[in-house]
Amino acid sequence: MADVVRAGNRISYEATGAGPPVLFVHGYPLNSTLWDPQVAALRGSHRCLVPDLLGFGRSDAPADVDLYSVEAYAADLLAVMDDAGVEKATVCSLSMGGYITFALLRSAPERVDALILADTRAEADSDEGRANRAAQQDLLRSEGTGPVIDALVNGPLLADATRKTKPDVVARLRRVMANPAPGFLGALEAMMKRPDSARTLGRIEVPTLFIVGDEDAITPVEVVRDMHETVPGSKLVVIPGVGHISNLEAPEAFNDAVTGFLSAKN
Ligand code: MLT
Repeated sequence: MADVVRAGNRISYEATGAGPPVLFVHGYPLNSTLWDPQVAALRGSHRCLVPDLLGFGRSDAPADVDLYSVEAYAADLLAVMDDAGVEKATVCSLSMGGYITFALLRSAPERVDALILADTRAEADSDEGRANRAAQQDLLRSEGTGPVIDALVNGPLLADATRKTKPDVVARLRRVMANPAPGFLGALEAMMKRPDSARTLGRIEVPTLFIVGDEDAITPVEVVRDMHETVPGSKLVVIPGVGHISNLEAPEAFNDAVTGFLSAKN
């Protein structure tokens, strides 16, 4: 692992492999190990940059929630790219990682070569969504991360079939969620205050692949299909029998979609 310091906080990342760069951006409340199956498949042919976002994995986890925003996460990603000597990368992101990728597209579109947007959406939170996140912050402050992790694993993150028949995936997801409470609190704050990205989506001009699990309860297929129809020339892959964490629930199908897209693009 390597480290870069931005705005006084240490951001940890792995840089591995050689070839065209791919920057991986994880979701909430996950860390860089989310991408292990994809890095294993790509490191033979691509340079993989895999950061822990602020508050997650080995990165610093400051307690001040005001330090967290999609713009700050995007600035951290640019610092990682600079530190690794990567000028331009394909950005592969999942869910909150996609919200951050939209911020990156606003601040430094010239650093983005192509996009893989999995299980994400362009809209900002609704008022109800913000209230739910504030309630989750209250629960985290009073009881820590345990109940939130249980609610996510037993609730919207995985397809029923994954939960019932793939205990290894459930156990792996729990390990990927073993992050400090300030990271959870900060990410919720960042997601609550993120702007709407519909205009950013409408301006995408780089090759783009959308991926979604057909049982994704957080970013349903229709939401992702609408984004695909907004971006001219984009591709859409719907993975059957899979929920929101599509890259862990069906790593082979996800990797096939990614490698097919990357080889057609290059
Ligand atoms: C994620 O997977 O990053 C989150 O579920 C996104 C969200 O809560 O909006």
